[in-house]
Amino acid sequence: MTQAVGIARAHTNIALIKYWGKRDKDLFLPMNSSLSLTLEAFYTDTKVVFDEELTADSFFLNGIEQSKTEIKKISRFLDLFCEYTGERPFARVESFNFVPTAAGLASSASAFAALALAVADALKLDMTRQELSTLARQGSGSSTRSLFGGFVEWSMGTSSGDSMAHPVDDADWDVGMLVLAVDTQEKKIASRVGMEHTVQTSPFYPAWIETAKEDLKAIKAAIATKDFEAVGQITEHNGMKMHATTLSANPPFTYWTADSLLAQEAVRRVREELQVPAYMTMDAGPNVKVLCRVSDMKILIEALSAYFPSEKIIASLPGPAAYVLSEEDWEQSKIHFAKGSQG
Ligand code: DP6
Repeated sequence: MTQAVGIARAHTNIALIKYWGKRDKDLFLPMNSSLSLTLEAFYTDTKVVFDEELTADSFFLNGIEQSKTEIKKISRFLDLFCEYTGERPFARVESFNFVPTAAGLASSASAFAALALAVADALKLDMTRQELSTLARQGSGSSTRSLFGGFVEWSMGTSSGDSMAHPVDDADWDVGMLVLAVDTQEKKIASRVGMEHTVQTSPFYPAWIETAKEDLKAIKAAIATKDFEAVGQITEHNGMKMHATTLSANPPFTYWTADSLLAQEAVRRVREELQVPAYMTMDAGPNVKVLCRVSDMKILIEALSAYFPSEKIIASLPGPAAYVLSEEDWEQSKIHFAKGSQG
């Protein structure tokens, strides 16, 4: 065998209970367990070709060859699999991000989940999804959860071997998300850097850890009884608490911009005016995501259009688990990307 090929698609996810802080930076072990919703509208397709004739790894994102630094991250990630396979040949990795540029969403969650599954497919690794999630984790923490669909929990675990994700609920009960893409510029403080600074300097950090545990328990109970309002309230409170830790870091910082505050205000007004449950959350960037019922999306989008141009409001249903693609799917995906349907 001179070549081994694997192709996979993984959808991105948005945390309702945030992962914020690492207890082990090298192994990507989190300080707290987290829970997310996988989104149908945003995904990454990745093809990996291990080839004994190659003399170095290469990485192409959206058709563009990436820098040495980016290739290094990929090489380091591929090396993790050597524990299972022994030495590996060099690889050519190609990815397409189907995250509308207007969405301004980070794609590292879907990226490393797609790559992990593509590698497992190429090397025919006999591994459960949960085991694979422990490897995806070491590319980017949030990728752990993107191997599964619907509501997904990432249990912090006690070691690298059991810090893994598992599906909690398929989210097939009138739940969805709107992304208010108020600002699509690249984030100024990477989540990795922001969370480390917060762990080290925020006096609120211990309270974050304590209450995140309670939030996780409460949201799982609310999901089990399909209590949308409780899921939403816990989500909004948890997100705000995460951001409070950045404001209390030293020196303080925030991911919010003036536009984020306007978006938050718009969500508050709209839910009051319409009397429709809609709850916001934010990650390490300025955009606001709104957890809502799918059946309320239309009126919410209409009402929010008074505040934002409609192309800045992107709706998504819950997404599926990551899956393997055929060569034919891959060719289709490339055509789809070239047609510009990604943005
Ligand atoms: C705020 O997964 O991007 O989105 O593990 O350092 O790659 P690294 O960080 P990353 O952090 C995500 C932080 C978050 C919350 C979340 O997704 O749970």
